Amino acid sequence: WMEKEKERAKKEREIQERECPPLGMESHKIESDQLSASSMSQYRFAPQRARLNMQGSDEEDSMRGGAWCANSEDTIHWFEIDARKETEFTGVITQGRDSLTDDFVTSYFLAFSNDSREWTTIHDGYADWLFFANSDKDSPVMNRLAVPVVARYIRIIPQSWNGSLCMRLEVLGCPLSEPSAFSYRQNEVTPVDYLQFRYHSYSEMVALMKSVNDECPNITSIYSLGHSAKGRELVAMVLSGNPTEHEIGEPELRLTAGLHGNEAVGREMLLLLMQYLCKEYKDRNPRAQRLVEGIRIHLVPSLNPDGQEKAFEVGSELSSWTTGHFTEDGYDIFQNFPDLNNILWEAEDKGKVPKLTPNHHVPIPEDYETNSSIAVETKAIISWMKSHPFVLGVNFQGGESLVAYPYDNLRLNKPFSEPEDEPRVTADESFFRWLAISYASTHLTMTHNHHGSCHGDTRTGALGIINRAKWRPITGSMNDFSYLHTNCLELSVFLGCDKFPHQSELAHEWEKNREAMLTFMEQVNRGIKGIVKDEQGNPIANATISVEGINHDITTAPTGDYWRLLNPGEYQVTARAEGFSSMTKLCVVGYEPGATACSFNMAKSNWDRIKQIMALHGNKPIRLSYANPVGYIVQKPKPLDVGPPGFVLTGVQRRRLRLYRRRQQRNKKLRATTTLPPTTTTTPPTTAATITSWYDPWPLWEGQSSTHGGITDSPLDYNYDYNSD
Ligand SMILES: *[C@@H]1O[C@H](CO)[C@@H](O)[C@H](O)[C@H]1NC(C)=O
Ligand SMILES: *[C@@H]1O[C@H](CO)[C@@H](O)[C@H](O)[C@H]1NC(C)=O
Ligand SMILES: *[C@@H]1O[C@H](CO)[C@@H](O)[C@H](O)[C@H]1NC(C)=O
Ligand SMILES: *[C@@H]1O[C@H](CO)[C@@H](O)[C@H](O)[C@H]1NC(C)=O
Ligand SMILES: *[C@@H]1O[C@H](CO)[C@@H](O)[C@H](O)[C@H]1NC(C)=O
Repeated sequence: WMEKEKERAKKEREIQERECPPLGMESHKIESDQLSASSMSQYRFAPQRARLNMQGSDEEDSMRGGAWCANSEDTIHWFEIDARKETEFTGVITQGRDSLTDDFVTSYFLAFSNDSREWTTIHDGYADWLFFANSDKDSPVMNRLAVPVVARYIRIIPQSWNGSLCMRLEVLGCPLSEPSAFSYRQNEVTPVDYLQFRYHSYSEMVALMKSVNDECPNITSIYSLGHSAKGRELVAMVLSGNPTEHEIGEPELRLTAGLHGNEAVGREMLLLLMQYLCKEYKDRNPRAQRLVEGIRIHLVPSLNPDGQEKAFEVGSELSSWTTGHFTEDGYDIFQNFPDLNNILWEAEDKGKVPKLTPNHHVPIPEDYETNSSIAVETKAIISWMKSHPFVLGVNFQGGESLVAYPYDNLRLNKPFSEPEDEPRVTADESFFRWLAISYASTHLTMTHNHHGSCHGDTRTGALGIINRAKWRPITGSMNDFSYLHTNCLELSVFLGCDKFPHQSELAHEWEKNREAMLTFMEQVNRGIKGIVKDEQGNPIANATISVEGINHDITTAPTGDYWRLLNPGEYQVTARAEGFSSMTKLCVVGYEPGATACSFNMAKSNWDRIKQIMALHGNKPIRLSYANPVGYIVQKPKPLDVGPPGFVLTGVQRRRLRLYRRRQQRNKKLRATTTLPPTTTTTPPTTAATITSWYDPWPLWEGQSSTHGGITDSPLDYNYDYNSD
């Protein structure tokens, strides 16, 4: 008897330790037609609204109820799930209704069946066993079964409730038809055996990153973006052929996760990605080598480590919708950035863009630094975004299954603060859509959500992508800020309905996202790239690159290099830099992978030459002598086709001269109509200065390439108003 009792106790312990994962109410693995109920109060509180963490709307005309709610006129209530196969049930998690009112179930019975006709209720030998449930509407409450029950159907039979009878729930169970279900599945889907599919606390995460760094010391490097409110480092991992510095011509890419600490999948995906790239690089996987050597990849798995710890402690099943979502100080980092959209849009409406207000690198308002409603984490992220020439970025979130691209914000019509009918679109809308599709379509399940999204308010079609402003507009988002203040195009990837799925899902999540992440990283090589240099070959930092037809410029990095992500096509690309003549080129982006080289060698602008001369003369006004090329330029037009005295013009030079004069006349007209202030005011010359001819002659008179000299038009040139005597 003792032996038998020991055996029984051991078995019971094993069963209790063997925690079955959720069957998938929250993740939607359980489909809507597996759910039924005794009744519903209205259609918007139908049984499919009973999924754990379902987000609802209290608006009367919305179909998105925040729970399943029973018809109060009935006397018997039950909620039923058909697992569709024999299942070992081990527990139930319940939650109240997502609403402003307090509706939740406080106790229930559980019944099981193999055919949905004969039901066995769990009892203690004397009476049915009453499970105590919720005491508020949001916190999930778990009840484990003392002894697991094998059955196909489960019923939750509410016995008491507060407010209306409404509930959301999840069921824990192991399907029996696949023996030792999830260890088996892990092996099946895992092509590599060196990856560990488990969640990491903050300290485990840092230790793992260090171990990857030890494993691959010459392609990885770890650094910190700054501190969280509680003093934890925001740790980043760089992977690159030369990880510690920017290499000229190499684009920088960032993948971040954990802005919301309870959205745990993205963090683990990035930890897996760094292990994968390290190992595959060492094993000479050519794709991994191309990525690591061709891109500087920054991975930040946890931008909100304080929230991460909070959610991690509560665990994957009970962390609810918001535990650890916010920072320690209560901020949602993703929407805590300066709002630059409205600055740009206001200027656009007044017709000031891009002549008076730039269409890129919109300045942060001055009061930003003193604004106390900005999280320390946000500040750290902003200075990080500014300190690297990032080209492309993605932040991983959760609670939906889609890719959202900017704008994230909606313009409000004054004075009623009504949103505009149609959201404004970015100048790079088509490329953003391309990026979004490249992720969603290579993800294994993201385009399968045509049966409805996680919460029933998303219209992604079958593409799995959406413009955030059309979906859930927010102000001050990281993506909008990145687009308007830096060169980096940033999107959000929402990895699934369940923000914090059971650990046994991680292997499958990795399979779903691995190819999508690799494909996304490869998109950084689309479009054009190049280096902007002066005639001596020195890089020009902060030069502006404009693409005709796309009202959003980008700038060169301190090392003079730039990347402009573009879809295939032919583009007129103009480089501009202070002190240089602007320069335009045709650059063609093809369908083959790899960015098109499109570099510029800029010549000093004529005005810059004049300034040099003036500087040489103590910035005193100069009397420009007639016989001198500089003097000649600023004179009234001479008879056509006659060069400066002493020059004989070739046909090409004559053509240039005509072009040049035409431009001068146009500039003059423009000057008359724009309000741009002249950069110099000319006082009548008092002294006659002679000019030594130490400097290069005006390039117009040289047989140089047509990109030199002032043949191209440039708004910068319009600044240089110049009058001669
Ligand atoms: C369902 O059938 C299995 C055997 O196939 C049995 O072990 C189990 O007890 C049954 N469950 C119920 C609730 O009748
Ligand atoms: C129960 O519901 C009532 C309203 O029906 C509400 O006033 C009360 O606060 C709720 N109780 C709790 C514990 O939330
Ligand atoms: C990494 O370091 C090892 C040993 O120092 C060296 O053999 C290898 O070539 C290095 N790889 C790279 C990419 O620098
Ligand atoms: C501080 O920033 C927040 C969020 O960007 C903004 O709503 C608020 O108006 C700002 N406050 C001040 C005083 O600038
Ligand atoms: C870059 O150029 C813009 C004007 O084109 C200027 O406002 C800005 O201060 C410059 N930034 C740096 C870092 O030089």
